Amino acid sequence: MTIHSPAPKRADALYDRVRNVIPPVEWPVFADDIDAILDLKRQRNAVILAHNYQTPEIFHCVADLVGDSLALARMAMKTKADVIVLAGVHFMAETAKLLNPGKTVLLPDRAAGCSLAESITAEDVRLLRRNYPGVPIVCYVNTSAAVKAESDICCTSGNAKAIVESLGANRVIMLPDEYLARNVAATTGVDIISWKGHCEVHERFTPAEIREIRENYPGVVVLAHPECPPDVVAAADFNGSTAAMSDYVSTRKPARVVLLTECSMSDNVAVQHPQIEFIRPCNLCPHMKRITLANIRHALETNQHVIGIDPAMAERARRSVERMLAVS
Ligand code: 13P
Ligand code: SF4
Repeated sequence: MTIHSPAPKRADALYDRVRNVIPPVEWPVFADDIDAILDLKRQRNAVILAHNYQTPEIFHCVADLVGDSLALARMAMKTKADVIVLAGVHFMAETAKLLNPGKTVLLPDRAAGCSLAESITAEDVRLLRRNYPGVPIVCYVNTSAAVKAESDICCTSGNAKAIVESLGANRVIMLPDEYLARNVAATTGVDIISWKGHCEVHERFTPAEIREIRENYPGVVVLAHPECPPDVVAAADFNGSTAAMSDYVSTRKPARVVLLTECSMSDNVAVQHPQIEFIRPCNLCPHMKRITLANIRHALETNQHVIGIDPAMAERARRSVERMLAVS
């Protein structure tokens, strides 16, 4: 009797990329889906854009392009693929669609939302405009297309300061993230009218947590996302977008670091820097975690879930995003 051992999977050649964050015992769970996704991408001329908060098996093994919200928007504009799968949340998929009206954009789980995007409606923005006539409205990219359509210009955490300063106004409305608005106001001298939205992941970090980390891990460098409350940002050594945090680690190579942000971010950066000690009091984003290898595969197999935006609204929302991209 001949015993046939199973053919090695192409995914197995990718395991080296993630071996210091995914234990060998967990790998077989991922390998089948990775092989299938690699085939489907070729068959459908598809690309996968993955946000920095996606899990390492997505980020390092099937994604074609990775980055922060700003980088994902820029990459979405440049791709020649017919299909874009957004491994991220709904507003990111909508932004990709706004910039690629002729392409199919898929979000593997329609319920992958964002507490910031949920915190404000288009009607709220119209009301703000009526209450503050003539004051420019900057909307964070973490908003629906309907909110972007009512705003003058968009921003991300990576360019918020540059966008606010580009307006040359003494007073600006910035929505919906109250903490990002206050953090930007602290560095620009512009009077910023904010909204009451918060990121459910970043609002939970506290200065007391930072003090405790510094006591327990001497010399640790603390990096915080600007969606954290201002007292947390003030107690950190650096604040910036997810891409800026990743660049900080790559260029400054601190011996010990903590990233006050979503949990997968440390995993993804740690993969590239095995010599750096990552302290991990992170918080999970339940929306980002809805995206899995299994539903990415399903999205490509069944063409779900297609992002569609009303063309008239898309036209106005696109202007907001394009104005941002023209500045920074
Ligand atoms: P970045 O643009 O910094 O990647 O942030 C996106 C986000 O949702 C942070 O919570
Ligand atoms: Fe939204 Fe916060 Fe999740 Fe980012 S981490 S997608 S801002 S809920």
